[in-house]
Amino acid sequence: MKPSVGIVGWRGMVGSVLLQRMQAEQDFAHISARFFSTSNVGGQAPLGAGVLADAFDIDALAACDVILTCQGGDYTQEVHPRLRAAGWQGYWIDAASSLRMNADAVIVLDPLNRSVIDHGLETGIRDYIGGNCTVSLMMLGLAGLLEAGLVRWITAMTYQAASGGGAQQMRELITQMGAAHAATADLLADPASDIMEIDATMSATLRSDALPTEHTVVPLAGSLIPWIDRDLGNGMSREEWKGHAECNKILGRAADAQIPIESLCVRIGAMRCHSQALTVQLTEDLPLERIETLIAQGNEWVHLVPNQREASMRELSPVTVNGSLQIAVGRVRKLAIAPGMISVFTVGDQLLWGAAEPLRRMLRILVERG
Ligand code: HSE
Repeated sequence: MKPSVGIVGWRGMVGSVLLQRMQAEQDFAHISARFFSTSNVGGQAPLGAGVLADAFDIDALAACDVILTCQGGDYTQEVHPRLRAAGWQGYWIDAASSLRMNADAVIVLDPLNRSVIDHGLETGIRDYIGGNCTVSLMMLGLAGLLEAGLVRWITAMTYQAASGGGAQQMRELITQMGAAHAATADLLADPASDIMEIDATMSATLRSDALPTEHTVVPLAGSLIPWIDRDLGNGMSREEWKGHAECNKILGRAADAQIPIESLCVRIGAMRCHSQALTVQLTEDLPLERIETLIAQGNEWVHLVPNQREASMRELSPVTVNGSLQIAVGRVRKLAIAPGMISVFTVGDQLLWGAAEPLRRMLRILVERG
């Protein structure tokens, strides 16, 4: 019999991308899907799947073998404990971060941690949580080096897209771009206008109330925001903390065998691709060609971009990678700072491999396991 899968949060951005991918991979042929809603109970479910069930109805949820949720952390915190308290033994697959670091949860990124997932399934773990987008995308890009045990430590300087902050930040970014252009359009139309005047007008516009900043807090268009997620009070953002904590958990590394990972996370005006400038200290001073081969062979999604100007500009770009499962990896260079130290630049779609795809694949693992 096909497993019954309750899908929650399918209308949001990650949920929509997830549904598209599930349709593209014909996942629905292998499951009996029931769609839940927090706001439109009784409404029409997508894909002709009857009517929407109540996402807060514990009995209805408990009738599912698997719950797949992109509804967000507040929903998880409210519903997951109640469902477990009611004795539900099904599998909970979640895009939100709330349960990630729990001892009885596995962070899923199967191209790198299939053995951790399988061990979890064999030992009765029932919560499978998608990782932070930045972490998953970095790990897929460096998979060949990580799996060969060649990574001593990593620093990640990130360039994170607006989508990571949610759909409203994406909309606001474009509106900010429009307002900035509108304020300078007359000057731009005049080839003889003074660039200093254009700059002054632009700057005054970015600092004024003309720009909506309800969701980005400060302007993102024409600027950047060097802080993502909560302030942990120790000089670190929660996004930066996740780099080390989640990567090591995904790899199943013991406390005394951790790979140190430090980050500085920055929001930029890209739509949905997160980029990262990585410095990696390898455990061996390998030849560059060997390093490139290992990276390129890391998994089928890595696209190694030659470290050349034209190729880097065109292929190692959030614009190019947007909407694809490709993980572009380039700017691979040995650094003069120390033997075995390299630079790497990665670009990946934050909604696909950064969010929806690991969840979709986890569901498929469950389905194939029977
Ligand atoms: N926290 C990430 C960001 C997205 O703000 O870009 C979710 O993993």
